[in-house]
Amino acid sequence: MARKVLSLLLPSLLAAVGLAGLLLLCVPTRDVWEPPSLKYGIVLDAGSSHTSMFIYKWPADKKNDTGIVSQHSSCNVHGGGISSYADNPSGAGQSLVECLDQALRDVPKDRHRGTPLYLGATAGMRLLNLTRPEAATNVLAAVTRTLTQYPFHFHGARILSGQDEGVFGWVTANYLLEKFIKYGWVGQWFQPRKGTLGAMDLGGASTQITFETASPAEDPANEVQLRLYGQHYRVYTHSFLCYGRDQVLQRLLAGALQTHGPHPCWPRGYSAQVQLQDVYDSPCTAAQGPLTFNSSASISLSGSSEPALCRSLVSQLFNFSSCHFSQCSFNGVFQPPVTGSFIAFSAFFYTMDFLRTVMGLPVATLQQLEAAATTLCSQTWSELQARAPGERAHLPNYCAGATFMQQLLSRGYGFDERAFSGVTFQKKAGDTAVGWALGYMLNLTNLIPADPPGLRKGTDFSSWVVLLLLFAAVLLAALVLLLRQARSAKSPGAI
Ligand SMILES: *[C@@H]1O[C@H](CO)[C@@H](O)[C@H](O)[C@H]1NC(C)=O
Ligand SMILES: *[C@@H]1O[C@H](CO)[C@@H](O)[C@H](O)[C@H]1NC(C)=O
Ligand SMILES: *[C@@H]1O[C@H](CO)[C@@H](O)[C@H](O)[C@H]1NC(C)=O
Ligand SMILES: *[C@@H]1O[C@H](CO)[C@@H](O)[C@H](O)[C@H]1NC(C)=O
Ligand SMILES: *[C@@H]1O[C@H](CO)[C@@H](O)[C@H](O)[C@H]1NC(C)=O
Repeated sequence: MARKVLSLLLPSLLAAVGLAGLLLLCVPTRDVWEPPSLKYGIVLDAGSSHTSMFIYKWPADKKNDTGIVSQHSSCNVHGGGISSYADNPSGAGQSLVECLDQALRDVPKDRHRGTPLYLGATAGMRLLNLTRPEAATNVLAAVTRTLTQYPFHFHGARILSGQDEGVFGWVTANYLLEKFIKYGWVGQWFQPRKGTLGAMDLGGASTQITFETASPAEDPANEVQLRLYGQHYRVYTHSFLCYGRDQVLQRLLAGALQTHGPHPCWPRGYSAQVQLQDVYDSPCTAAQGPLTFNSSASISLSGSSEPALCRSLVSQLFNFSSCHFSQCSFNGVFQPPVTGSFIAFSAFFYTMDFLRTVMGLPVATLQQLEAAATTLCSQTWSELQARAPGERAHLPNYCAGATFMQQLLSRGYGFDERAFSGVTFQKKAGDTAVGWALGYMLNLTNLIPADPPGLRKGTDFSSWVVLLLLFAAVLLAALVLLLRQARSAKSPGAI
């Protein structure tokens, strides 16, 4: 009789164990048991000098959560920015094909149709739209024709305003560095609310500064109000068109040509043939040129490695003569004093990185940055080439870039030593590039809700723990019983 009960008990126990295990697998704690299925999004960042494609990914079942969108892969489009195809719009579309083909491979085939695809163009296209609006429209139409040929869900090609570009860069930086919301180790969210990071972006044709501010902006064009995860943010932002790295270099070149002397920011021993057409074709330099010039004419210009003259040439880019507000950065633009920590990316990072790693100069303070720019600007062409053999194409322009950055931060935005010590120069957070593209996608896909996310994941986790304990208890009981059965089998006298 007892033998019969025991032999029935064993299979029923095993069944209980199996059931518990099954229950456990049904509970939606996918991150513990299997890799979650992913969703993807693609953003083409059509900058003035080149286009980059970013593919982002996030877990498919947690549309409302955050801290989890990251960069899956990226691709650099060969050739110039789409605005450089003003006279050959179809070439702009064609230029994107190689990266889009990569996207077809990078995103799993069964996800293609559900993957949103965005193209955002920035200051290069803003400039083109200022001078030749019909050419800008044609370029956007051409890239749209190419993008709609792909299976992704294309959401349109747009020119971002300077304000959007600044704010989305700020959103990206604070999202990646978990300033809005943090993901705790047991699976619940909490809001750190220790203050956000300001963002500074230096592109090819414009530069943006964006930071949270307590007081309302005196110029409404500089203020954006955001509601993210139930928190309210008042953000100051401004984009300076024609103050991106390439446009600044072009304006300095035009300035050097006006003096009829050598270029003080170029290294001594370096010279180049300058096409007048190339110098004055931008709205940023048009006013500096002669009224009429032979469009195929070129001038030979050499460098002279003169830091003081270069600094004075750069200082002419900033106008401090008038301000209709209580305080301004430059060119009469309202700006409250910079507060809090900042992250500076894109060309800010590349310039700092060159000073630090190639030149081996300390740049921890503004004073050191100024000294580093002076040292760099004193180098001759052969000295520079010896230091950075691989960088030939950009090498003559680092002096101007560093001098401009130093003046923009100190005199332009008004960073003092204390404020500058809170600036970090960084191009990525983890594996994800810092720029406007991620913030743009987060906004357009509603991945950042206005209200705080619930604690759904936290409850998932506790039910998982309960089941785990249950599973373990059942298993233990089964083992104990098995052991007893084995013992009683050894001593037949007990029956
Ligand atoms: C996020 O969750 C809230 C409430 O749970 C819901 O009302 C809202 O529609 C969700 N948003 C998205 C984008 O899924
Ligand atoms: C070009 O600029 C005009 C005037 O600011 C604007 O209305 C238009 O939308 C812009 N074009 C594109 C394609 O964004
Ligand atoms: C413009 O310059 C080119 C080359 O320097 C020269 O051949 C041409 O005759 C010039 N045209 C005019 C209109 O001066
Ligand atoms: C500075 O701006 C003022 C007002 O906009 C203008 O009158 C002046 O010519 C500018 N100065 C320079 C050097 O561009
Ligand atoms: C994000 O998108 C919403 C609409 O979905 C819009 O109202 C809001 O202004 C956008 N945020 C920014 C920073 O542009």
